[in-house]
Amino acid sequence: MYIKDIQLMNFRNYQTLSLTFNSKINIIYGKNAQGKTNLLESIYVLGLTKSHRSFIDSNLIKNDCNQSKIVGNIVKNDLSSKYEIILEDKKKLLKIDGNLMKKVNNYISNINIIIFYPEDLDLIKGSPSIRRKFLNIELSQLNSNYYNILNDYNRLLKMRNDYIKSNLFNIDENYFQILTSYLIDKSISILKLRKKFIDKINEIIGNIFYKISSIPNFYIEYKSFIQYEEDEKILKEKILNLFQDNREKEIKYKTTLIGPHHDDFELYIDKFSLKTYGSQGQQRMAVLSLKLSEIEIFKKYKNETPILLLDDVFSELDDQKKNNLLDYITSDIQTIITTTDLNNIDLNIKQNSKLIEIENGIIKNIEEVE
Ligand SMILES: Nc1ncnc2c1ncn2[C@@H]1O[C@H](COP(=O)(O)OP(=O)(O)O)[C@@H](O)[C@H]1O
Ligand SMILES: [Mg+2]
Repeated sequence: MYIKDIQLMNFRNYQTLSLTFNSKINIIYGKNAQGKTNLLESIYVLGLTKSHRSFIDSNLIKNDCNQSKIVGNIVKNDLSSKYEIILEDKKKLLKIDGNLMKKVNNYISNINIIIFYPEDLDLIKGSPSIRRKFLNIELSQLNSNYYNILNDYNRLLKMRNDYIKSNLFNIDENYFQILTSYLIDKSISILKLRKKFIDKINEIIGNIFYKISSIPNFYIEYKSFIQYEEDEKILKEKILNLFQDNREKEIKYKTTLIGPHHDDFELYIDKFSLKTYGSQGQQRMAVLSLKLSEIEIFKKYKNETPILLLDDVFSELDDQKKNNLLDYITSDIQTIITTTDLNNIDLNIKQNSKLIEIENGIIKNIEEVE
């Protein structure tokens, strides 16, 4: 798939912007703080309804404005559809071809976007919540059910936590057990989909990592609150027991202590965790491998190439890694790159790219592919 064009209204430092993209490679360049990342972010938000770098939607609205709008045409299997997002302080409207989409999952499962950005290393070094967010975003793009299940889970979790807090000495056992049982059912659905996703990554990632680093035995491991079990009945029984064991602790801490909302994943070479033992270089290669695996997974399971966004990543990669990434770019995948310095980019790539210069939220110059 590829994005054909985008129009912005009051998004970050853009008052209005209208831009068409090349279906292959696009390079957005310009000095620091001119709006390169903002433009990339607008594509990400158009596809996923949320920003990769801000939890708060209202940050996306141009200062002193009360509404922001992103519109773009995205082509999938030669068919173009118009996607539209209208952001207000506490409201977000999503439309496809003019039709209001009431369910976020029906919107985001249509567009596949993969982003590389400088903070990616946090995927390895950062807190588990960053890795869970990664899993949740990828799975929501792959499977339109996942988003719903996760939403149901979070809703039930909040209900259960609120109930524990407000009824500490006076718990209605029946109600509490039913709530717990519903929560566990959603946990199991989440675990199943995450487990399948991790298995898919593991079919691919070892080879990719080996190609980049010449180091074998690289893999990813899902770290769960419970040892996974194929048989749902047995799994539910195990989780129920664990809840039972944690009952007193939950009352003490007034919150639900176990569940996939605390799960994590870790990357390994042999039995050595990259987080603990990996060099900075290995960690970078691991993130790169993870993202490249995603591309393969989208191709394989959705029969679709994702849109690739590369935010200022070329300055940090050495030649070997750069070339590996470029192998993918030069295949038939739409890529949108930002850089402060066009010299960071291979001449060969540059000649085949649309060049867009941004200055202070305005397009200063455009060069189409010759
Ligand atoms: N909500 C907003 N309203 C207006 N300007 C914003 C908003 N959010 C960020 N900016 C401005 O955008 C600029 C940074 O843009 P960015 O795309 O990150 O730069 P770069 O070109 O270096 O990638 C800064 O000048 C910042 O003040
Ligand atoms: Mg930037």
